[in-house]
Amino acid sequence: MSERTGRGSNFEPGSKTRELMEVRNENVARGISSVMPVFVKETRGAQVVDIEDNVFIDFAGGIGVVNFGHNHPSVVEAIKNQADKYLHTCFMVAMYEPYVRLAARLNDFTPGSFPKKTALFNSGAEAVENSVKLARRFTKKTAIVSLECAFHGRTLMAMSLTSKVKPYKYGFGPFAPDVYKIPAPYCYRCRFGLTYPGCGLHCAHYLEQFLAVECSADNVAAVLAEPVQGEGGFIVPPPDYFKVLHDICRRNGILLILDEIQTGFYRTGGSLASYHYNVTPDMITMAKSLAGGVPISALTGRAEVMDAAGPGEIGGTYGGNPLGCAAALAVFEAADRENIAQIAKDTGTAAAARLQAMKEKFSLIGDQRGLGAMQAIELVKDRSTKEPAAEEAKAIVKRCHERGLIIITAGIYSNVIRLLMPVNIPHEQLNRGLDILEEAIAEEQGGHR
Ligand SMILES: Cc1ncc(COP(=O)(O)O)c(C=O)c1O
Repeated sequence: MSERTGRGSNFEPGSKTRELMEVRNENVARGISSVMPVFVKETRGAQVVDIEDNVFIDFAGGIGVVNFGHNHPSVVEAIKNQADKYLHTCFMVAMYEPYVRLAARLNDFTPGSFPKKTALFNSGAEAVENSVKLARRFTKKTAIVSLECAFHGRTLMAMSLTSKVKPYKYGFGPFAPDVYKIPAPYCYRCRFGLTYPGCGLHCAHYLEQFLAVECSADNVAAVLAEPVQGEGGFIVPPPDYFKVLHDICRRNGILLILDEIQTGFYRTGGSLASYHYNVTPDMITMAKSLAGGVPISALTGRAEVMDAAGPGEIGGTYGGNPLGCAAALAVFEAADRENIAQIAKDTGTAAAARLQAMKEKFSLIGDQRGLGAMQAIELVKDRSTKEPAAEEAKAIVKRCHERGLIIITAGIYSNVIRLLMPVNIPHEQLNRGLDILEEAIAEEQGGHR
């Protein structure tokens, strides 16, 4: 892999890219967006090479999908071996071993010593949809509560549970009924104007008030939340947040579903973010890095909840396809063998220290936060008003792209720059990527003075 990095400041696409862009623009639906005008030739570890032979350091990881690096050799080998044997029979027609092995592995991997069961699907949104179906069937109640700033996917129920209006919801209604939102534990922008810990976790206790004023516990089947909100802007709840939320759920016969689709598989240092919060949800949704790049998702939970649906009532043609199962089993083996948990913690510590130092230098950075290797900075025009600096975030990210760093934004106001690099990125590449980010922020900050 050549060491030429990025395209330089003009970022002019080459002829091959221009030709493909034309085909893309003519044939691919406009709503499918791409953050960079780049077509991929090959990937390896934390690097992406485009068809013009530009090499990029990847801080997006396919939006949190390649936590263990692109083309992890064990995952690639497992996919090849599986492809040689069989590609698809549909588990609902003729079963295969990797599905049941993966289900057993996930039952073991998730928190809780009670009996658990797993169902496999294709995408994160599909796992979320099925968590709602099972919660409703099990509790015989219908309302679902999610958090402001949440992202749970783009299908009808998942979109209804999601918070950011543009681009996720605008003009796509009506939404699924019986979905409610409560304020997020967004300490930097507390909806109640309070400060942790003096706030006494008012946002978590607010659930109780919600059950009194908005929707009776007799109607609420589940509360669904991300342990760290991803698309919402890497919002890290206080350590005791989920304990309070879970206690209220338990006292009111409400299930707690945690969406670990972005936080899972060592992104936050621990295998799942639920362990950081010492919380044992009734169901957990997982996808993204579960299979290192092959589409598969999982819903794991208490056996009695997961068994609430009868045969044929959940599932799908491709759910738990053999390639995804084989890849996921290889991911689990690699994680143990390579001590990924420790590596993710070290990467997170190093990245957080650099971002914190940038915050001290640049007033554009209003907040630096994260858990493990899930790190972000929130940009503001003014630290006292906290006016979101979305245009600035966009300009910084674009400059990074021009200089060879793939990086993406997040946040309800699109003013958060987030790091989702492979957790095992070599530190030399991590630092080079952070140097590019720092330069880009410095230039944007210069324009602000
Ligand atoms: C927390 C969370 N839930 C659900 C989803 C939806 O997953 P998918 O895009 O695979 O449907 C995402 C995707 O970003 C996510 O971050």
